[in-house]
Amino acid sequence: MAYSSFTEFLAALERAGELRRIAEPVATELEITEWADREMKSPGGGQALLFEKPTVNGAVSPFPLAINTMGSRKRMALALGLGDVGELAQQMQLILKAKPPTSLKSAWTLAMQGLGLLHARPKQVRGGPCQEVVHRFEENAQRSTELPTLLDLPILQCWPQDGGRFITFPCVHTRDPDTGERNLGMYRMQVYDERSTGMHWQVHKVGARHGKRYYERGERMPVAVTLGGDPAYIFAATAPLPDGLDEILFAGFIRKKSVALVKCVTNDLEVPADVDVVLEGYVQPGELRPEGPFGDHTGFYTPVDDYPVFHLTAITHRKDAVYPCTVVGIPPMEDFHMGSASVAIFLPVLQMNFPEIVDIALPAEGVFHNLVFVSIRKQYPWQAYKIMHGLWGMGQMMFSKYIVVVDADCDVHNTSEVLFRLCANTDPQRDSTFVKSPCDALDHAPTVPCIGSHMGLDATRKLPGEGHTRGWPALVKMPPAVKARVDALRGR
Ligand SMILES: Cc1cc2nc3c(=O)[nH]c(=O)nc-3n(C[C@H](O)[C@H](O)[C@H](O)COP(=O)(O)O)c2cc1C
Repeated sequence: MAYSSFTEFLAALERAGELRRIAEPVATELEITEWADREMKSPGGGQALLFEKPTVNGAVSPFPLAINTMGSRKRMALALGLGDVGELAQQMQLILKAKPPTSLKSAWTLAMQGLGLLHARPKQVRGGPCQEVVHRFEENAQRSTELPTLLDLPILQCWPQDGGRFITFPCVHTRDPDTGERNLGMYRMQVYDERSTGMHWQVHKVGARHGKRYYERGERMPVAVTLGGDPAYIFAATAPLPDGLDEILFAGFIRKKSVALVKCVTNDLEVPADVDVVLEGYVQPGELRPEGPFGDHTGFYTPVDDYPVFHLTAITHRKDAVYPCTVVGIPPMEDFHMGSASVAIFLPVLQMNFPEIVDIALPAEGVFHNLVFVSIRKQYPWQAYKIMHGLWGMGQMMFSKYIVVVDADCDVHNTSEVLFRLCANTDPQRDSTFVKSPCDALDHAPTVPCIGSHMGLDATRKLPGEGHTRGWPALVKMPPAVKARVDALRGR
């Protein structure tokens, strides 16, 4: 199901009892973070919050602020128009497994899958709700008191030592200058003044690669940033798709409806017509400015570093625009549920490459890449190492700091069970491996930024060919018949 606006998504959350409205003024400086953080850490991820009167330096912003809208498995599913995120994984699996039809029935099934993909193709439209209100900023013009600028949006100062206010849910649209391929990524933006921000695309991300090509060509890089609209865009911007795979196409596939794209008013990039706010602008080759500190996903402040600067040329928005955002910090936070949905959706892709993979989990404590649990159907010696190296070689899985491989009968979503297997099944020296690898730019632990080591731990049962010659003991387990009998006796 597709949402025609972020407000429509909020209405769906409200109908499901998943949204709390807050009518009294609450400050964008720290207070909203504190409220949202408590909500995100409450059982099941609490509720989504709609602050109807967020204040900026004491004045009520004209835009309401929504937060924690995807902060539970249920809300994540609602955001993608599903009963459960697992449904999308099933659809991915069908497409990946599609083979040339050999019968009328299989041809029909394939056609239906094709129809699903047909929605993926975006379509161009002229004008749209996101351009109901248009404010252009002429270069070198003085600030007009009538035009809203970045300072009028209810942008959070999340944590006390943050370097300023940060846009935390920006969908950043760029284009490869060589191929014309589009990219949509989520990279936070620190507000410097009313018309400029930082652009925190880390060195490994596609936006940074596009930027580098513009710098090499000495050309100004057009950039458009969208806020809100169908939440599928927000999810698609964060999803670790391979470079070159169009996130707008992916969003169309998720929402089962073509994304209507409208041309920006001050550059020739295209953005979804139904978003709430568009920040149009450019990045100037070679211009860098200190960005941060920022209380990050890691639970620590990331230090100040130089990043490109985004200059605003226009703000366009819906008349009834809502400002969507999140806060990151000590886990668990809202982003855990977004990451888990990505993992569930991409599990079929991983399984296509590694059929022995049963399941995979990135526990909240590992803030995305720090800790990966993967279960496999083990068939031959050192298969666990093949899986570790395979995962380290796949896109953003290269950041996985610790990979723990367990047997198929271990539930990777139960951290306690994985730790039990890890402690019981490993001889630390024999069952571990270290590799050199690029590291997540946010990781403060490596000696040098962005490079360091990763560790793999083989917590599977050892086969004779793996140097363990004593025979592996059986796991202590009760037969199902006894369990059923005791269930009956206990009245369950
Ligand atoms: C809330 C949130 C904030 C994020 N902020 C950043 C960021 O500031 N910089 C960055 O490089 N990646 C950030 N990410 C991760 C990227 O969005 C993610 O790696 C995405 O796949 C990048 O897209 P790309 O591969 O098209 O570059 C963030 C993710 C989330 C969920």
